[in-house]
Amino acid sequence: MVAKEDSGSPLIPALTEEHEALRRAVREFCEKEIAPIAAEHDETGEFPLETIKKMGAMGLMGIEVPEEYGGAGMDTLAYVLTMIEVARVDASHSTIISVNNSLYSNALTLFGTEAQKQQFLAPVAGGEKIGAYSLTEPMSGSDAGTMQSRAVLNAAGTHYLINGRKSWVTSGPVANFVILFTMTDPDKKHKGITAFLIDTTQPGFIRGKKEPKLGIRASATSELVFEDYACPIANVLGKPGEGFKIAMTVLDAGRIGIASQALGIAEAAYEASVAYARERQAFGGPIGHLQMIQQKIADMRTRIEASRLLIYSACAAKMRAKTTGERYTLEASMAKLFASETAMFVTDEAIQIHGGMGYSKELPIERYYRDARITRIYEGTSEVQRLVIARHELGLR
Ligand code: CAA
Repeated sequence: MVAKEDSGSPLIPALTEEHEALRRAVREFCEKEIAPIAAEHDETGEFPLETIKKMGAMGLMGIEVPEEYGGAGMDTLAYVLTMIEVARVDASHSTIISVNNSLYSNALTLFGTEAQKQQFLAPVAGGEKIGAYSLTEPMSGSDAGTMQSRAVLNAAGTHYLINGRKSWVTSGPVANFVILFTMTDPDKKHKGITAFLIDTTQPGFIRGKKEPKLGIRASATSELVFEDYACPIANVLGKPGEGFKIAMTVLDAGRIGIASQALGIAEAAYEASVAYARERQAFGGPIGHLQMIQQKIADMRTRIEASRLLIYSACAAKMRAKTTGERYTLEASMAKLFASETAMFVTDEAIQIHGGMGYSKELPIERYYRDARITRIYEGTSEVQRLVIARHELGLR
């Protein structure tokens, strides 16, 4: 399915020749390099390092990062298009590039000092190293401001000593660098959270249990444990106490990426369903001639296109924010909420249309369904997105 693009509305950014060329190149790469290995990596759960390195060489690990810091210097629309194309073939790959781009690299681009960008951003945006983002803890997920991990400044004022346990860290088992959010002043609640740049080769950093997962199985997820990890004050990202704001600001960008991932998964399931509805014979003709199948196809396509419009609108809001500095929290949450719910709807209907074959591991439909499920959970559950949207509309905090 190739979407018909509208470039006339200020809510929808225009696709340039460069965007089209990028989309073609990413699609070609994914079909050639990722499609043949996706099912096997889903089965084994092996991290696809080789293809991730190749995507790094194509500039896909730092799409919006300025070229001077190793990135591709493109815009959010380029990132969105890439996420859709990659997720269309394999959601695990899109999860890995999503965290590297929109959470890790974006945080450094927005809040890093020159020295931090040289050390922690350039190698990650260039694809030589992998970055992770670590906010969640075993007892603090949606209520992100209540974390138990602690960082205490030493008497000399040179290092923070970090202790605690983080969980559900995408790329945790392989990351070279991690942006870690931890409490430096518990009395101040969310205003006592600070962001740190963690070098995973240093003592006191321990990779914890790798999570066995329902979907996105080739993306590695783990706990991270900090035992007296000494972090130099030069590696504080932003100012002490600014961590919660940094975490939330980059999650706004991250949520546009997850919405795009959900859209890519939904597109793949939809395309397979249309092809199957044309081919599969029942009751004297192709099942696509049956009105109950037609209703599913119509609803799937309509929700996919509505998701695309919400994503493009959030993307335009984020691009405007570069000059206005305005937040695009509402647009990002609406896009993520609608696109992830759509991905579940579409992948579920895709299994229904395929019948037993949809349930079989011989086709990728069941993988799309399993992979879609996480989009309603990570980077803010659907419930959190509804909370953000409703608070905005009602003027509540
Ligand atoms: N941008 C900038 N600032 C923001 C913000 C945003 N989007 N959202 C909130 N803030 C600021 C507020 O303005 C406020 O600042 P002031 O006190 O200075 O006014 C401060 O943050 C606190 O805001 P709230 O009172 O709204 O905070 P809250 O405690 O009620 O929480 C929440 C709000 C929306 C529920 C938030 O906690 C949240 O988004 N939770 C979900 C967390 C999440 O998405 N976790 C996923 C982690 S990543 C992951 O999934 C794993 C991975 O590897 C990818």
